Amino acid sequence: MPAEAFAIAIDGPASSGKGTVARLVAERLGFSYVDTGAMYRCVALAAARLDLPWSEGPALAALIQTLRFELRFEGGRLAVRVNGEDVSEAIRAETISLGASAVATLPEVRTALLEGQRALARRGGVVMDGRDIGTVVLPDAALKVYLDADVDERARRRQAELAAKGQALTVEAVREDLRARDAQDMQRATAPLRRAEDAVFLDSTGRSPAQLAEEIVRLAQARGA
Ligand code: DC
Repeated sequence: MPAEAFAIAIDGPASSGKGTVARLVAERLGFSYVDTGAMYRCVALAAARLDLPWSEGPALAALIQTLRFELRFEGGRLAVRVNGEDVSEAIRAETISLGASAVATLPEVRTALLEGQRALARRGGVVMDGRDIGTVVLPDAALKVYLDADVDERARRRQAELAAKGQALTVEAVREDLRARDAQDMQRATAPLRRAEDAVFLDSTGRSPAQLAEEIVRLAQARGA
């Protein structure tokens, strides 16, 4: 199969390690990496700056038409730009995580982002991560992975990440946010988070991103990547 047709879909709950693992897999295979969660985060941030509530589907869809997203590796990190402004840090704030999950429940928002996500996958070999990649965005992906981990471990990872950026939250508070976000992401009517029937399930509890990436690269190579 030519590289341009090869897509790897990685779905899973918040802080399951998807982003780090997806990046490593993309690097190893020379594929691009698309973080679809970053797009929902950009929408939540742009709305917050305009005082537009995270519940206004049609207005948010109109806002999305004015946003130009750029996701690019720079200096070992994923730089996220919206209309030329670097929002890589701003979109990782805890309030924006919750906002992203809120706007992501709205069908108008999901529809407005869908075609752009599919277009990115058509450009070449891609590793795309999110919640509905294997089920909705790229149902024909050559390899689908569902990555999960114990909620306590996910909360510890996320708390450490936030602390490193100067956001001091307790592990308990972070665990509650994760639970609320997972419930909202799994229970929404449109494109809820769930494991695609043909997805390989991987538990990242106690496993390093490098080990998981190695396993995914092997699976991809076995399928012709
Ligand atoms: O992957 P993340 O934590 O950065 O995603 C932030 C939120 O965006 C997540 O809680 C739900 C939403 N999301 C989604 O609904 N569908 C996707 N494909 C990616 C993210």
